[in-house]
Amino acid sequence: MTAPASNEHDPPVRPSGLSPPFRVVLVGFMGAGKSTVGQLVAQKLGWSFVDLDEEVARLGGAPVEEIIRGRGLRRFRQLESKAGRAALRRDRVVIATGGGWAAQAENKTGLNLNARSVWLRVTPESAVARVAASVCRPLLEDAPDPLRAAEALLRERTTHYANSHITIDTEERTPDEVACKVVEALRNHSKRRKLSL
Ligand code: S3P
Repeated sequence: MTAPASNEHDPPVRPSGLSPPFRVVLVGFMGAGKSTVGQLVAQKLGWSFVDLDEEVARLGGAPVEEIIRGRGLRRFRQLESKAGRAALRRDRVVIATGGGWAAQAENKTGLNLNARSVWLRVTPESAVARVAASVCRPLLEDAPDPLRAAEALLRERTTHYANSHITIDTEERTPDEVACKVVEALRNHSKRRKLSL
């Protein structure tokens, strides 16, 4: 007898209390906690989770930092856009983007129509402290002064992040507290207004 096909990307559908689109995209700077919070939000909603950096590594056959350093930022952005397009075609999914994804013009087409976007806000100081303790981010680690690099990048990107439907502050909150705020905001969000928690 053949075992029924199972797919780790298709968790059981359970009522999320949300109205369509059943797609959530987390944006924000490096170190905002998009991947950790994204997994928690997906668990709470009973949806699947996609980490774009992991998808890029899979598509490129190498870790993200190797792709950026070895093949260049431009190639990395192409792979990231491709991974983002594929993820945005899925249903009942929480997508954690890389920090630069939301600032690329081509990635914004349809984002706010096809998904609910959530900006996880973090200060440059916290971002630098958090990334120092985790996987390598060449955009900060290869800079002579990571804090100044973070401040400059964040200045450039803030208007893009701020276009999100929902903004959640991550300072002095645990990942689970942030995830609870995200779910609360998703349930209260109406398309007519922006929400900040
Ligand atoms: C980047 C952020 C990283 C990763 C890459 C580039 C950026 O992802 O995509 O190092 O341009 O901000 P995280 O935001 O998950 O750290």
